[in-house]
Amino acid sequence: MELEECIKGRRSIRRYRDQPVPRAAVDKLLEAGVYAPSGMNIQPWRFVVIQNKETIQLLSRKTKELLLGMPWPENLLKAFSSEEDTIFYGAPLLILIAVKRIEEWKTVNLLDTGLVAENMFLQAYQDGLGSCFIGFGSVLNQDPQLLAQMGVPEDHELLGCLIFGYPAQSPSTRPREARVLGWIE
Ligand SMILES: Cc1cc2nc3c(=O)[nH]c(=O)nc-3n(C[C@H](O)[C@H](O)[C@H](O)COP(=O)(O)O)c2cc1C
Repeated sequence: MELEECIKGRRSIRRYRDQPVPRAAVDKLLEAGVYAPSGMNIQPWRFVVIQNKETIQLLSRKTKELLLGMPWPENLLKAFSSEEDTIFYGAPLLILIAVKRIEEWKTVNLLDTGLVAENMFLQAYQDGLGSCFIGFGSVLNQDPQLLAQMGVPEDHELLGCLIFGYPAQSPSTRPREARVLGWIE
């Protein structure tokens, strides 16, 4: 697939087929991720790969529980009250990105996480997989014990929750516009 087609064709997927992602495909996603640039080439990202349905459901339930304690608009509170997996959308693969918690590096760590994520999303799209960044998942930082059970050390912070799977929807490319503030020649 041409890079341009990949960049413009990728969309966030929120409906997945009930089909596991093969190990080789997961390895490819991780490999694509770590080729991302990172501040001072520290490559701070650490990954937890979760393919167990019950575990993903447990994390989804816990995320909803935490979110319900926060002042979200009515429509979101309704979604978080749903029995359905309105967080990870029943995706068969959840990859957590955790980074060692260093307050002064928080911005750089967040940027590094975003760059890894986009590399993985593009690789996924090229390989016929759907993906979505789940920012809501970061509330799980409020439950360090649960994160520790997942393998995230206590001195690490969860900065990215990424879902992947074979898509059960194919949203069309959305036109975007470059909003240029200035162009100085
Ligand atoms: C930092 C970040 C957090 C996001 N969090 C969520 C989320 O919690 N749940 C969700 O369904 N989509 C989430 N998204 C997906 C965005 O809604 C999506 O990227 C945006 O609407 C643009 O659509 P597209 O990805 O299909 O181009 C997130 C995206 C980013 C970059």
